[in-house]
Amino acid sequence: MKVQLSINGERRTADVEPRKTLLDCLREDFGLTGSHTGCEHGVCGACTILLDGEPVRACLIFAVQADGYEITTIEGVAPAPGELSVIQDAFCETHGMQCGYCTPGMVLTATALLRDNPQPTRKEIVEAISGNICRCTGYGQIVEAIALAAERLAHANAPQRAKP
Ligand code: FES
Ligand code: FES
Repeated sequence: MKVQLSINGERRTADVEPRKTLLDCLREDFGLTGSHTGCEHGVCGACTILLDGEPVRACLIFAVQADGYEITTIEGVAPAPGELSVIQDAFCETHGMQCGYCTPGMVLTATALLRDNPQPTRKEIVEAISGNICRCTGYGQIVEAIALAAERLAHANAPQRAKP
């Protein structure tokens, strides 16, 4: 079946079997391997993408079900090639990753959180990432990363003070 997807702002088409998951389609048909394959049954969150802005598990959706939706993968969050988003940068700075397997899903979950709730409490951050499993970090540094990104984004929007 033909599917037309809008991925990271670009219209893409693929010819897929109806049983192909969106995750496999992104990775195999479009080469977007930043969405990771973990449990493949909706538990780990490694495959998290944004579907019309909402974090969803790409392993639980068939590619044909995503026809016509706006999809954002980790490849689409940086402002330009070779750059990092504020959230990605904060993950690097606070050591919010070790092996990196969970990181794309964490970053996309955080991206949606900070869009909807720019100044989350620590509890709200923990709750937001509760569907994303990390086997390495113990989560503390991930929470720090998201809190740091929230602070930086808030200051980025603050009016500049006149220089003395
Ligand atoms: S691979 Fe999709 S939730 Fe684990
Ligand atoms: S950094 Fe290894 S799974 Fe999270």
